[in-house]
Order: sequence, then structure tokens, then C-alpha cells
Amino acid sequence: MDTQPAKSAARLYFTTAATSAAAALAFIVDAIHLRPGELSSKQIWFGVLLVVVALYTHLSLRAEHLYYVNMAKHGCAPPKRIRNDPMGVRYLLSTASAARQNVLLERRSELLHKMGHTYRNQMFPEWTMTISTDEPENIKAVLATRFDDWDIPYFRIQGFYPVLGYHSIFTVNGAEWQHARAMLRPAFVRNQLADLGRFDFHARKLLAKLPQDPSSKVDLQDLFSMLMVDTTSDFMFGQSTDLLGAADADSLTFVKHFDASMHKIAWRARLSWLTQLRPDRELDEYVRFMRSYIARFVAKVKAQRASLAADEAKAAAGGDRYVFLDQLIDTGEPDEVIRDQLLSIFVAGRDTTTSVLTYLFFELSRRPDVERRLRDEIAALGAENPSWEQLKGMNYLQMAIKEALRLNPPVALNSREAVRDTVLPRGGGPDGKQPVFVPKGTNVRYQPWCMQRRTDLYGEDAEEFRPERWETIRPTYVLLRCGWSELSTDMLTRLLSYEYVPFNAGPRICIGQQFALTAVAMTTFRILQAYKQIKRRDDKPLVQKLGVNLSMVHGCWVSMTPA
Ligand code: HEM
Repeated sequence: MDTQPAKSAARLYFTTAATSAAAALAFIVDAIHLRPGELSSKQIWFGVLLVVVALYTHLSLRAEHLYYVNMAKHGCAPPKRIRNDPMGVRYLLSTASAARQNVLLERRSELLHKMGHTYRNQMFPEWTMTISTDEPENIKAVLATRFDDWDIPYFRIQGFYPVLGYHSIFTVNGAEWQHARAMLRPAFVRNQLADLGRFDFHARKLLAKLPQDPSSKVDLQDLFSMLMVDTTSDFMFGQSTDLLGAADADSLTFVKHFDASMHKIAWRARLSWLTQLRPDRELDEYVRFMRSYIARFVAKVKAQRASLAADEAKAAAGGDRYVFLDQLIDTGEPDEVIRDQLLSIFVAGRDTTTSVLTYLFFELSRRPDVERRLRDEIAALGAENPSWEQLKGMNYLQMAIKEALRLNPPVALNSREAVRDTVLPRGGGPDGKQPVFVPKGTNVRYQPWCMQRRTDLYGEDAEEFRPERWETIRPTYVLLRCGWSELSTDMLTRLLSYEYVPFNAGPRICIGQQFALTAVAMTTFRILQAYKQIKRRDDKPLVQKLGVNLSMVHGCWVSMTPA
């Protein structure tokens, strides 16, 4: 292990000496033998290219040498490395091609398996090193035990800010993040979520849109997406967009532009500064519309509040209910902060919850055995309108949701940037068991989708949808039963097993987790109560598309037989 710094030093000194000698030789030959005269543009460009290549080689060898020196100092061993890929161009091209063919997650899984679950590489156009991992111990270090060493990466901030702005909870770190999170927290307290009536109100609107005729078919993905916009806006902003009811044309355009922008920012985050070389007028147009839509929405709420007496305003906003938008207005946040936070809530809540609902129903439509067990559980409860506790106590339903989140974690890949030199506990050395040194500025890309399908963690049937597996493995079981918000961060760190992190973990754990789980459970409950059979209506393969969140390329086409 200690020979690495010596070897890298030898490489650095030898290459630097060789390029300096070659340059000196070229200068001497030029001075003695070549007639002075003007250089052609080809000569100039060739010279520039040589200097760039020499500089790049020198700087990267120097960085590598320093890496090995620090690694030895911290008692670490190097992780495996993607070879023969200067500047990471090949890696970028293969990533882009796999993403276009919707096989990026599968490719990453294969690579991680081959490389022993942690590897390092560079991905153009980033200059810094990247470490990819699907190792639970590493994820634990990044998200919890060494939380302070990690921030939201700059490339993500750069990718997201045109849509989410600079104040979104997803693009800020440090004190600004703490402030945004503290603001949101009261909206997710348990008694607020236990108000199942509001979830149910929207679930019933969804039922009204579902077919009554078993011979017709419907794409549930689209409907779930509308359901989540309606539910989220109702809870967080005090007014529902009512896409499943009588939405106005502007709301529909907002959703269309929102979809297109999400697609674009996923690519922006992948391509980093490259995307800034060419202005994206379409994206600018979408963002302008969305911002003015939100500004109108906020102005309307402000005007309503101003025209009502205090107690009437409170009643209009849902009585004692904590409405996030009202809170933002009351605390006098500037308009652009309000706007950024509202858009972020849509990003956080809509596609994630839609994704898990769609995947769950996709599985139910091809797994009548699971569907039957769920329906039996609902029937055994004998409750027309279940309470929050009853819903949470439905073991098989909870296991089915959990299993859907295992195979389809909506945030399938995630990342953090090291804000100081730090260490990951696993991935170094030939057996991958030794700690890995991580220099400041390194991006770590951790991959819940890949980890949650590892056969060494979940068994040979890891790829299979089998809710029953949660009868015997129970990393987060305790948390599902008692609610995350009641546990201190310290307890979470001890209780959690990091083999299962669909909602992330540690201080930045998803704040809307219970909201999402309740929405999924209530919707599933209502649909299975109203329909006795759900059948797949297309024979296209399951293709998961990775944008900001996972979605299903072919949607979820089913026919439904009323009970
Ligand atoms: C099944 C549905 C959901 C999943 C799988 C999910 C997953 C996640 C994940 C993985 C993160 C961490 C992102 C990161 O730090 O890089 C996150 C953060 C967050 N989620 Fe969710 N989420 C879901 C639903 C929701 C809902 C419905 C809301 C709100 C209505 C919400 C609000 C948030 C917020 C505000 C954050 C940022 C937390 C912070 O940085 O402190 N999420 N979510």
C-alpha cells in the first residue's frame, strides 16, 4: 500500500522531466536549424495543443501523487479506477448513451458489481474526481455519521437553479438549508398528516376519473401525477390546483412546462457547465411562465388574506392547519424565496410519489396474488373510512409499499460533494474492504437503485417484487411503525440499516416521507376497495426512465373491474 505514493511520484517526476527535455530539445533544434519566420496558424495550434496536453498530464499526475500521499497519511487504500479514460470523456459518452436508451441504472449496477461496489473515475466536464458507490457503509458515512463533510454538489446546484432558483431547499447548504427545513417542518407534523380526510378527498376525485367499464383501458401514471399535484398544492399552499376536477388552462400549461423543465434540468445536472455554452430559450420560456403563474397564485392568496378579517383568513386557509405558503407570507420572506420554495415542493412531492404509486400498481396489475392479499387485508379491516393508525397498521399494505420503494426508489441516484478532506469506510484495496481517502471537492455518486437490488444484501430473488421479504428483514420496520419525526437524529443513525434508503437518511432525510407514505396508502386503499380486479393492458416491457426521478417509459396501462 505504501508503495503507491512512491510510484506516483516517480511517474510525476519522470513525465515532467521528459516533457521539459522534449521542449528544450525542440527549442534548440528550432533555434539552430530552422529559419526564423512567421509561424503558420497550424503550427500555432499544434503548439497550443502540446502545451495543453503537457499541462493536463502534469496537473493530473500531480493530483494523483497528492492523492496517494494523503491516502497513505489517512491509512487508506485506493479504490478501483476506470482506466484509459483521460478527462472522463468516454465515461460521459457511455453515460449519455445509456441514459438515452433508458438502461443507465442497469449499466451502473453491472459496473458497480464488477468493480467491487465502489470505484473512482472522472466524468467530463467535471475536473474533479468522482467516487461511485452502492456500499451501505459509505452511504451511512455520507448521509449521517460524517454529514458535516458533505454538501449538495455544485453541479446539481448549477443544473437545478434555472428552474428552482438559488433559495430552494434542494440548492442550498448550511444555514440557509437549516432555515428552509425549519420552515417546512411544521407542515409535516403527525397530527397534520393524520387528517386523512384531505388525502381521501383527492383520492375520491381520482376514483371518479377511473373507468367503470372493464373493457376500456387507462394510464394510471398520468392520473397519479395529477393526483399528487392536487394533493400537494392543497396541503402546502392551502388551495388545490384541481387538475382532477376543473383546472384552468393556465394550470394545465404550468404542469406541461413543469414536466419539460424537469427533463431538461436532469440533463443539465449531468452535463454541468457544458449546457451553459448554448442558451436554452425553450427552458427560459417555460421558467418565465411558471414563475409568473406562481407569482399570480401568491398575489391572489395575499389579496384574499388582505381582504378578510384575521379569523376569516384563518378559516379560509384551513383553520388550525399549518399552510406552508401562509407561513412564508407571514414571516415576510421575499417573493423570490417564496417562489423558489413553492416550486421545490412540487419537485419534491409530485414525481416521487407518482413514481412509487405507478410502480406499485404496475406490479399489482401483473401479480394477482399480491393484489388478492391486499384486498383481503382491506376487507378484514371492515372500515369504510380507515383511521391513520389503521392504515399504518395494515402490515401487508405497508410491506407492498416498502417493496415498491426498494425496487423503484424514485430518487434512484444521488450525490454529494466533499467540503473537506474526508474518508469513506469501504471500497479501498483489492478486496474493497479498506477505507478510501476522499479529497475536498470530490463528488460521491451513491446509488440506492443499485444497492437495493444487490443479491448479496437481499438474496437471489432481489429483482423480484416480493412484499413478504419484509416479514423477515426489517431495517426500517421500527421507523415505519413509530414515525421518523419522533426519533432523534442520533437514534436514526443507530437504528437505520443503510441497505434501504429510498428517502435518504440522516439530517437531510426526506421531510415529506410520512406525507408520501400516507398518500400512497390511502390511494391504494381506495382503489382496491372500489375495484375487484386490475389487469395489465399492454405487453411492453418494464422500462424505468431516469430523470430527476424515476418514471415508467410506457406508463402503466390497465383495465379495471369495479367491485
Ligand atoms: C415516495 C415519495 C418520496 C420519495 C421517495 C422522496 C425521496 C427523497 C429523497 C431521496 C430526498 C433527499 C434528496 C437529497 O438530499 O439529495 C428527499 C428530500 C426531500 N423531500 Fe422527499 N421524497 C418523497 C416525497 C416527498 C413529498 C411528498 C414531499 C413534500 C410534499 C417531499 C419533500 C422533500 C423535501 C422538502 C426534501 C428536502 C429535504 C432536505 O434537504 O432537508 N418529499 N426526498
